[in-house]
Amino acid sequence: MAKKIFAFNLKMNKPDIDFNKYVALMEKAKDTVYVCAPTVYLGQINSAKKTLVFGAQNVSEFENGAHTGEISSKMLKECGCEVCIVGHSERRKNNFENSKNISQKIDMLFMENIMPIVCVGESKTMPFKKAVKVIKKQLDELQLFKYANKKIVVAYEPVWAIGTGKVPTTDFIFTMCAFIKNYLTNLNLNAKVLYGGSYNENNAKELNKISSVDGFLIGGASLKEKSVKAILKI
Ligand code: PGA
Repeated sequence: MAKKIFAFNLKMNKPDIDFNKYVALMEKAKDTVYVCAPTVYLGQINSAKKTLVFGAQNVSEFENGAHTGEISSKMLKECGCEVCIVGHSERRKNNFENSKNISQKIDMLFMENIMPIVCVGESKTMPFKKAVKVIKKQLDELQLFKYANKKIVVAYEPVWAIGTGKVPTTDFIFTMCAFIKNYLTNLNLNAKVLYGGSYNENNAKELNKISSVDGFLIGGASLKEKSVKAILKI
């Protein structure tokens, strides 16, 4: 069986153990692990890591210049980042990011060979047929055909499932992630598809069985040593 991907999104939080211990824990995993941390801790993670692939949760859509408070993809690369989340629903909502900004951010990341973890997801519960239209529109707007033959991760995260403890049915997740995989394969992208939204040690067993899902983007459960150990089975 192919290795699963576990992408841990710390959001604006620190885990309940220090970063040296956290990194060491992640490096014990047999599966593929990515840690996306707040930018100010990237240096600490870079010093602590031996093999861990880590990255940021956002990047500027610009290359350089007068953009106070922004961080460029080149700077992330200098900090050792190999992956970066873009288009997370919290940034779409709270920071007014749209497909145009997100697409520019993806361009910037590829310029530095940083692999984007692109988030898509419908905002409220709806029947599958409607949800798949929303997701197709989000994917279309990102013009992903520009990245043929490149390695990319797309995380399907229904917004209503993030941090709520609610999860779509396994059938729903299976069909949506299969649709996304097929969409990306048709564009000749070397793509992996993750599910995100209230994934934790309690539903892991059931969700891990979904064959169209290559792995998970994990928020809340990434903060507790106990949960991380259970998820990574270490
Ligand atoms: P959650 O967050 O696991 O806390 O639902 C997932 C995410 O927002 O990426």
